[in-house]
Amino acid sequence: MDLIKQRIEALREELNKHNYDYYVLSTPTISDFEFDKKLKELSDLEIQNPEYFDPNSPTQRVGSDINKSFKQVTHKYPMLSLGNTYTQEELTDFYNRVKKGLNDDFEIVCELKYDGTSISLTYVNGRLTQAVTRGDGVQGDDVTANVRTIRSIPLTLSGSDYPSEFEIRGEILMPWSVFDRLNKEREEQEEALFANPRNAASGTLKQQDPKIVASRKLDSYLYYMLGENLPTDGHYENLMKAKEWGFKISDATRKCRTLDEILDYINYWNIERKNLPVATDGIVLKVNSLTQQRNLGYTSKFPRWAISFKFQAEQAVTTLESVSYQVGRTGAVTPVANLKPVKLSGTTVKRASLYNEEYINFLDLHINDQVYVEKGGEIIPKITSVDTSKRNIFDQKVEFAKNCPECNTPLIKDEGEAIYYCPNNISCPPQVKGRVEHFCTRKAMNIACGSETVDLLYKADLVKDVADLYTLDWQTVSRLERWAEKSAKNLIESIHNSVSVPYERVLYALGIRYVGETVAKKLARTFTSINKLIAASTDDLIQVDEIGDRIAQSIVKHFSIESNIEVVNKLREFGIQFELSEAITSQQTDKLKGLIIVISGTFEKHSRDEYKAMIDQNGGKNSGSISAKTSYVLAGDNMGPAKLEKAKSLGITIIGEDDLLEMLK
Ligand code: IVH
Repeated sequence: MDLIKQRIEALREELNKHNYDYYVLSTPTISDFEFDKKLKELSDLEIQNPEYFDPNSPTQRVGSDINKSFKQVTHKYPMLSLGNTYTQEELTDFYNRVKKGLNDDFEIVCELKYDGTSISLTYVNGRLTQAVTRGDGVQGDDVTANVRTIRSIPLTLSGSDYPSEFEIRGEILMPWSVFDRLNKEREEQEEALFANPRNAASGTLKQQDPKIVASRKLDSYLYYMLGENLPTDGHYENLMKAKEWGFKISDATRKCRTLDEILDYINYWNIERKNLPVATDGIVLKVNSLTQQRNLGYTSKFPRWAISFKFQAEQAVTTLESVSYQVGRTGAVTPVANLKPVKLSGTTVKRASLYNEEYINFLDLHINDQVYVEKGGEIIPKITSVDTSKRNIFDQKVEFAKNCPECNTPLIKDEGEAIYYCPNNISCPPQVKGRVEHFCTRKAMNIACGSETVDLLYKADLVKDVADLYTLDWQTVSRLERWAEKSAKNLIESIHNSVSVPYERVLYALGIRYVGETVAKKLARTFTSINKLIAASTDDLIQVDEIGDRIAQSIVKHFSIESNIEVVNKLREFGIQFELSEAITSQQTDKLKGLIIVISGTFEKHSRDEYKAMIDQNGGKNSGSISAKTSYVLAGDNMGPAKLEKAKSLGITIIGEDDLLEMLK
């Protein structure tokens, strides 16, 4: 039961049909806009779920960068996976097989099975030379530039007793804390969330821009050394050496001699793992002696000298009592299951995410259903299935709400979208409050006003839109429940200070759907005042690098709503910055005027984003795909072979970073 996979497959099939209708039959049955929207949905899903990557996906036709820009590398030693066991009996069988196979004393190394994405690192003369993903086990992606940003991976080794060349393998992980923060940010931007830290880690590792990778704070644990001249014949002892050279080796790694010791280890970590900062999904057992490992050898798929034991994903059965609906700041309505409280993984679960209408229909959910809830790698528990045998014929089928639970306005759903919206953006309370809260956040206007204060101001009828904040005075605020003069003065001061927040942050603060921080910056540089942005058509907007139809339509729609224009006008009267600052405009030149530049690969002197910004600032245009109109391709390391081929076939000049910097001198 994998809804994401089903959705990906359905989209691929549908898009293939539309491609056929368009390119073969020349009779398209949907608009380009609809097509692009579906393609974007598919591309987003593929980026977030790299395990479903398929070179034949329709996304791969459009010169997208997904997976393409990484050089493919053949592993010197194939990257195998492990046989899985789930019960004590299966584990005992493994132990006895090893015992029989060796007919000698042996040690077993017990390790945690880290739930991230695997990586193979090559070190030559103590320096990291290559980092390759598992890929299909034979070939993987060269993600060296990205891996270099991970602080726990040493770029040069300590000591001197390391082999001149060796590989070390392990897991790249996104700690829970980083994962939670990232998803929170994505939620604020209404971007699709990562389902678990594993997907987030592998999605991050496939990013084109190492700067983004660096910002995501990935971590690593190494657990397997390979090479010709390893320091000792013991796997455990080699890992301890690796620790001395600077690698992160788990402190949970233990040498055991008996089955009982192994079982104790498993029982201990089955509980204790919940306190770890990263996700684990089992235990790995390995025969310690490398000689004995060689003697045992491999089956057609797995080593005979190692096995994994998977922890049970914790499940519980409970009753679905009701479904409620949450309304976000942009009006998006999310269904939530209210459950009869049940203990799961040490916490009491009362609610579970239902994602959207499709998921409710997929489960064929009825009120009073006995539902299975699971807390796998996900943070929010989810309902995985329903025990329909327990269903009473009078139980009501769950129908998605028709009206907004907060303001009763009929909900709407755009064609092809999974999400329902409440269109009453003017007076639907959570939308109004959500917009004010977002406006005040640190990265927006940085006003010291959290959700409780917003709620209070809203209830007291003092703030009905973001501009109302600027009408407040400390005397009024101090009369609110539990407010004192000092805190009221602080609030007013931070509101006043916000008038100097630069234009690009103001744009972000307006809370236009899909306009996050980065998009706001890009918009501000092209449309240097709010008037220019308001006047822009979708056509004008999509000329801006990385602004597609979805964002462009959303901006046009935002400013077509009268109340939004009124808010801008009021804010302008209060002195809010609606023009790009002199400092930034003065850096702008015409040096690249009329040039369309495609950036490909990774760079040393500046990041891709920095080069994009330089091109923007100097009057050039960034483009994502090479066409006859392209003036130059700015090529770094690992430029995708398809792009290179295309540039050559069109006779486009390829320049390096030094050439560009020279042009800008
Ligand atoms: S050893 C030939 N040790 O689990 C042995 N793998 O199904 C290769 N993993 O692809 C792997 N923690 O991504 C090993 N302590 C650990 C591990 C571990 C996590 C992952 C790894 C591998 C998969 C095996």
